Amino acid sequence: MTDIKVELNHIKGFVSDNQLDAYKKQVSDTFNTIYSRSGAGNDFLGWVNLPSSITPGFIEDIKQKAEELRKKSEVFVVIGIGGSYLGARAVIEALSNHFAQLIDTGNPKIVYAGHNMSEDYMHDLIKLLDDKDYSMTVISKSGTTTEPAVAFRILKNHIEKKYGKQEARTRIVAITDKAKGALKVLSDSEGYKTYVVPDDVGGRYSVLTPVGLLPIAMAGVDIEQLVKGAQLMERYCLDTQDNNNVAAQYATARQALYHAGKTNEILVNYEPRLCYFSEWWKQLYGESEGKDGKGIFPASVTFTTDLHSMGQYIQEGLRNLMETVISVENPANELRIPRDEANLDQLNYIAGRRLTEVNQTAEKATILAHADGGVPNIRIVVPEIDANILGQLIYFFEIGCALSGYMLKVNPFNQPGVEAYKKNMFALLGKPGYEELKASLECR
Ligand code: PA5
Repeated sequence: MTDIKVELNHIKGFVSDNQLDAYKKQVSDTFNTIYSRSGAGNDFLGWVNLPSSITPGFIEDIKQKAEELRKKSEVFVVIGIGGSYLGARAVIEALSNHFAQLIDTGNPKIVYAGHNMSEDYMHDLIKLLDDKDYSMTVISKSGTTTEPAVAFRILKNHIEKKYGKQEARTRIVAITDKAKGALKVLSDSEGYKTYVVPDDVGGRYSVLTPVGLLPIAMAGVDIEQLVKGAQLMERYCLDTQDNNNVAAQYATARQALYHAGKTNEILVNYEPRLCYFSEWWKQLYGESEGKDGKGIFPASVTFTTDLHSMGQYIQEGLRNLMETVISVENPANELRIPRDEANLDQLNYIAGRRLTEVNQTAEKATILAHADGGVPNIRIVVPEIDANILGQLIYFFEIGCALSGYMLKVNPFNQPGVEAYKKNMFALLGKPGYEELKASLECR
């Protein structure tokens, strides 16, 4: 059994039970397409049995490397972009103290690089690293992505000047392809500790490979529990390949809503620690579905924060929206609203109640208001946020994404559209081989 529940009460009135039932056969067929590896992009299905293929020895190896680096690092830099950093950041931020960067948690501070091209960002990072003991990982499956390659060139230079080449080598871990790419060549020639991103696991499905596991272990998170949660969900999906499966219910609901004109899906959380989980989800679904002129546009909000910025649009704007709420039943801590004798703010009617009660009431009130306003709501309910539940959620969303992509008749495992900006950028920067494109772009 899984700890994840999917509730579809608030899509009623937008799609009928008959419409949902009509997907029954397609769901079973699509599970079959995934497990028989007969669909488009089937050479990228390594994530399907990835959790169960992770051995205790492998986890131990990652933990040992992390322990060695943790001893000498106040800061750990994760260099990567897209699927090469979002999964790690999603888990780390979901499980860390909200103010981890400001307090001593006993763990190194995790910072990120190579996910933008901002000179000011890099400048500030270098200033920080000047005064801190640090180590880093450079993550790139292809080994050729410009943003992390540029960041690594700059930080390699910095770390070698700070510690000398020999010590610097012990503070760098490369995570890349087993055989090809510039990063692999560089790592071999420098003798860095290297982990492999499996050939058959695409970037956005790679959080349970060393891509995610090493940074997550560096942050002091129990990676064993994370993997256990994903294993549980993998087993559950193997055993439930029909429309009783919670991931299939999610995929079916969003398909039906998409065909009813709800082309934009907003992932909603009421826990700010899930903000980067939404960023990971956006990449997973956006890159997997958005192609061939099709696909649900993924967006995200944190409530109640964004009810005061996006709430108006969601309530009354263009009616092409659906919401998917990740609802957490139990917070990790307890805090009650105090009574105040003067009661000038008139809040004594909620005195003595837990903040969570107010938060959950806000969730209920918002779902009802938005559904009344024409925005259907899917609820994904989890008992709490811990490493095991996050492992389950990761696999839930991965399989939900594969099902959704195949049901939409796209290849959920490629991303051809990502190349367009890269070619233009290389041409405009004057990369050899792009002269003709450069000339054509410059006169536009
Ligand atoms: O999902 C994907 O494949 C992409 O988003 C990649 O993760 C991203 O482009 C980074 O690629 P790489 O790991 O090759 O540097």
